[in-house]
Amino acid sequence: MDLTHTLSTSLRSIKLPISLKSSSKMSIKHRIYSYSSPPPVKTSTASQSTSLPVRTIPGSYGLPLLGPLADRLDYAWFQGSETFFKKRIEKHQSTVFRTNVPPSFPFFVVNPNVIAVLDCKSFAHMFDMEIVEKRNILVGDWMPSTKFTGDRRVCAYLDTSEPQHEQIKEFAMDTLKRSSTVWIPTLTTLLDTMWDTIEPQLSSGPASYIIPIQKFIFSFSSLCIAGADPANSPDIAENGYIRMDRWLAVQLLPSIPINAFQPLTEILLHSFAYPYVLVSGDYNKLYEFIENEGKEVVSRGQTEFNLSKEDTIHNLLFILGFNAFGGFSIFFLSLLASLESDKTGIQEKLRKEVREKADSGLSFKSVQEMDLVKSFVYETLRLNPPVPLQYGRARKDFDLSSHDSVFKVRKGELLCGFQALVMKDPKVFDDPETFVADRFTGDKGKELLDYLYWSNGPQSGVPSVSNKQCAGKDFVTLTASLFLAHLFLRYDSVTITGTSFSAVEKRKP
Ligand code: HEM
Repeated sequence: MDLTHTLSTSLRSIKLPISLKSSSKMSIKHRIYSYSSPPPVKTSTASQSTSLPVRTIPGSYGLPLLGPLADRLDYAWFQGSETFFKKRIEKHQSTVFRTNVPPSFPFFVVNPNVIAVLDCKSFAHMFDMEIVEKRNILVGDWMPSTKFTGDRRVCAYLDTSEPQHEQIKEFAMDTLKRSSTVWIPTLTTLLDTMWDTIEPQLSSGPASYIIPIQKFIFSFSSLCIAGADPANSPDIAENGYIRMDRWLAVQLLPSIPINAFQPLTEILLHSFAYPYVLVSGDYNKLYEFIENEGKEVVSRGQTEFNLSKEDTIHNLLFILGFNAFGGFSIFFLSLLASLESDKTGIQEKLRKEVREKADSGLSFKSVQEMDLVKSFVYETLRLNPPVPLQYGRARKDFDLSSHDSVFKVRKGELLCGFQALVMKDPKVFDDPETFVADRFTGDKGKELLDYLYWSNGPQSGVPSVSNKQCAGKDFVTLTASLFLAHLFLRYDSVTITGTSFSAVEKRKP
């Protein structure tokens, strides 16, 4: 199964007309803050005083077993994830409500009950580590077996209260920072190789970009995160990305919404967890690769961050494979899909900006000055958040505010946010359904970065050991901007059809 294709197809099929409409002409900040005093993401939400009406959380979990089963079928089959949440917003007239999310009955020992938080304000409570715990809930109440990660819980499953979280997250951020000197040369060399592979194929028809782009992402992530060059290992150079795809697919299948081939998908893919043994050969090869080729980074994990060799390698593999390779594999596809679906002549505008700012070569400084390129990247992340679901468990009883009500949440309850809807909050984003390439430019655009949440925190926020925001937040947006800049330095335009390039127009001298 091609995980990237499946994930990207399900994400790209998202189209949601939100029925709520903002009639206000007030500025963005005013519109949000007029509902309660402080902005939701910048202060402790627990301590906010509010004059909003208190409302019982609407919705119910239904009858034992049957309620979760009915919701699971709606979610994965009859409605699909986005319509599932949207219909319940309409039914309850609230962006906060109780529901069940899969996986559930019959073979998963999980509690599928969640409180959905589906507007920017209620979603932001999940960034407040005073009120929300993140232990073992990366993909919900259900967690893939730790066998997939060397019998240990890796960083993404750790709560900020666990000392290992600080150790590993610091290690991850330090590793990225140190590799920043090689990012641009590594990226341009690998992208040139990728385009040199694709270009000759175009003379005989459209060329699929899935494999070339996955190979590029795998090599780029391995080099920048683990200092490990796949070119030094023939097996990994050829099959590294496929081994990673299989390892990801087998552990995540129960939680990936696939709205095709039903009811077979429900019966065969969503009813039980697949055993690690199916991919142990792949994982062992990847482990050996990092152990042999990433020696310097592994040794730094041990000497400077006091991690064992095994902890270092399993965490590096997770960050490189799950976070970076998995995230980029989905994100780059939506980036190219945004170019494909544009009807406003965006390629010409992007090309003009790129050549104005970086004609003498790419640098961090030149990319920072490309406001339209960066905005295009942010807008793609807004409408296609690569990690669509986020969870947070209440550490204590607290009051949760949406734009129009306050709800009592009890300690232990699980909050679940579906980003694809949250990022279309009409109280924050004008014309929320439409891809507006320059939405994040200018002063008004910069303010909106407070409400761009793809990284499990605002784009204006700073990942740290005391929060759970993506350690690669800036690396991700910078890499995507560099990808576009490189493309428009090399080509005047590209024609994309689905997951293929059908033509490229080389840069005219
Ligand atoms: C497009 C690519 C990426 C996406 C979409 C992405 C997204 C995310 C998200 C949503 C989370 C929070 C998950 C949660 O707790 O609910 C996260 C966490 C994390 N990400 Fe990323 N990520 C990407 C790339 C990277 C890269 C390149 C790194 C490399 C360092 C990275 C490192 C991490 C780490 C270490 C965490 C755990 C943070 C913590 O435990 O405090 N990610 N990422």
